[in-house]
Amino acid sequence: MRIGVISGFVLMALVAMIASSLPDRPVVADDTEVSVILGLLGEPPSPNRADMSVTGASAKRGEELVKYGITTRPDGGRTTKQSRHFVCTSCHNQVREDPDLTVANPQARLDYARTNELSFLQGTTFYGTVNKKSWYNGDYYKKYGDLVEPARKSLREAIHLCAIECSQGRELEPWEMESVLAYFWTLGYRLKDLDLSDKEMATIQQALRGEGNNAEARELIHSKYLDHSPATFIAPPDDRKAGAPGVEGDPENGKYIYELSCLHCHEDERYSFFALDNTRMTFRFLEKHLFAYDRYSIYQVVRWGTSPLTGKKAYMPQYTAEKMSVQQLEDLRAYILSQAR
Ligand code: HEC
Ligand code: HEC
Repeated sequence: MRIGVISGFVLMALVAMIASSLPDRPVVADDTEVSVILGLLGEPPSPNRADMSVTGASAKRGEELVKYGITTRPDGGRTTKQSRHFVCTSCHNQVREDPDLTVANPQARLDYARTNELSFLQGTTFYGTVNKKSWYNGDYYKKYGDLVEPARKSLREAIHLCAIECSQGRELEPWEMESVLAYFWTLGYRLKDLDLSDKEMATIQQALRGEGNNAEARELIHSKYLDHSPATFIAPPDDRKAGAPGVEGDPENGKYIYELSCLHCHEDERYSFFALDNTRMTFRFLEKHLFAYDRYSIYQVVRWGTSPLTGKKAYMPQYTAEKMSVQQLEDLRAYILSQAR
């Protein structure tokens, strides 16, 4: 008994000694949300936090709305479908899609999509969207005009804009909006996503222990990811037959674009009445239209998309330079031509 108590004390003292001899022992876990850490370091809370006092708001309902376009109403029963044509995940992933969060590099993203079995899409992933400071950036004002103004500054407005304009669907009710936001907050960046070096980790932990510089630690965290998703519209090459000047297409890379992007929506008419598959006939059809100035030319649809006709219709969003590079479009062309032989 006596021995037990004494060895208990010894053990506790030993643990305390070891703990204090580890100067950089982590004070936050690897999967702690970046927004929580920034909060601890003195950053004011995000205005895009979900308002959970709205009756019926829940992350689970938000997830269902995003993935299936439908959920249970707070008062029982089912909602109507948000859109007749799409679900949010037709055009957006919900997991990390960039190996390096500080750049928007479509080839790095395609490689990452291959390794991780993701789709390669026109919309930006929802993963980390709550960590951003603006939405519908860059050239999107050219497409949506004044509509992007509020969407740039508020995630709620961005969701609202996309639900109506991209999904071609109905407006979200307030509890649905807060639910989608609540779901998005489950997809915020985690500490481990920042790929910090040991030294950087130590800087942050020191600040969290109150022994460092909070502003510096916050700045370090922010330097590890883009605070917006850049968007640059580009035109197809002037001469479609010649293709992009000086760019040689790689059919092997084009195959992945076709499979991880085009087929995501067009296989078995999943989100479009226009069906694409791996038959020679389909590739011949695409080849025949490639150089034409019509809506079946990949140059046309990739860079301009198709316009939603009035009367709410499915349409194809364009790919910005950040979502498909000039090289990648030539790769897709090369793949189509190789398969049409
Ligand atoms: C038909 C394709 C499509 C559908 C369906 C769609 N979106 Fe989008 N969404 C886009 C495109 C394209 C953009 C352009 C900006 C970007 O994501 O980079 C966008 C932008 C956004 C943005 C701003 C992203 C940013 O970083 O700028 C949010 C938020 C968003 N959508 C939410 C939703 C939600 C919620 C739904 C479902 C209700 C939805 N979207 C359905 C294509 C789509
Ligand atoms: C996010 C979903 C989505 C992705 C990804 C996508 N498309 Fe589309 N595409 C559509 C929709 C929706 C239409 C509208 C036509 C319809 O449904 O009738 C369309 C239209 C087209 C058309 C014109 C058909 C017509 O009837 O006007 C072509 C050609 C086309 N897509 C090719 C492609 C190629 C090539 C890719 C890959 C680079 C691709 N699409 C990727 C959704 C998508």
